[in-house]
Amino acid sequence: MCNKPQYGLVVETSLGYKSNDNRDVPSVTRLSTNTMPEIFDPVAAVYKQVGEDKPFFTLVDKFYAGVENDLILRPLYPEDLTESKLHLALFLIQRTGGRTTYSDERGHPRMRARHLPFPIGTNEKNAWMNNMKKALAMVPEFEPHLGTLTEFFETFATFLINKPN
Ligand code: HEM
Repeated sequence: MCNKPQYGLVVETSLGYKSNDNRDVPSVTRLSTNTMPEIFDPVAAVYKQVGEDKPFFTLVDKFYAGVENDLILRPLYPEDLTESKLHLALFLIQRTGGRTTYSDERGHPRMRARHLPFPIGTNEKNAWMNNMKKALAMVPEFEPHLGTLTEFFETFATFLINKPN
C-alpha cells in the first residue's frame, strides 16, 4: 500500500541501519516533488462501470427524440439525424473511457470549432441541457453517474456558447 500523497512534497525518511557487510548506513531524509500528479477524471471512469456501448446509444436516441420536438434546437440540426446520433454516441463512449472510434474516424474532437457554425447562446445551451437531463434520467445504467455526467455536460455546454443571447 503506497501512502504517498497524489501531489506536493514527498518526504521519505529511514532510520540508519547496518548493511550486510557490517557498514553503518546513515539515515536519510529525501525530499522530492511529484511533478506529474495523477489527476482522477471521474468522467473517464464511467464507461468501464457501464460496461458496454448499448446504454450510450439508448441515451443518444432518447436525447435526439427530444431534439426532434424542440423548437429551439431542431432548426440547428440536419433533417436526417442518423449521423448526428452516431457521432454523439461515439464521442461520449470515447470521452468516458471507451473505444476511440470517434477520433479514429473523425480526428481530434475540436468540439468548440465544430460547433461554431451553429449559433449557441444561453437559450440553446439550456434547451440542450434539458433534453440531455431528461434522456439521462431514462437510462438506468447512468443512474450511478448522474452527478458526474450532469456536471460534465453543464461545463461542456457552457464552453460551447458562442454568441450573446
Ligand atoms: C450547448 C448546446 C449545444 C448545441 C446547440 C449543439 C448543437 C450541435 C449541432 C447542431 C451539431 C451538428 C449535428 C450534425 O451536423 O450532425 C452538433 C454536433 C455535435 N455535438 Fe453538439 N451541441 C451542443 C452541445 C454539445 C455538448 C455539450 C456536447 C458533448 C458533450 C456535444 C457534442 C456534439 C458532438 C460529438 C457532435 C458531432 C461532431 C462531429 O463529429 O461532427 N454538443 N451539436
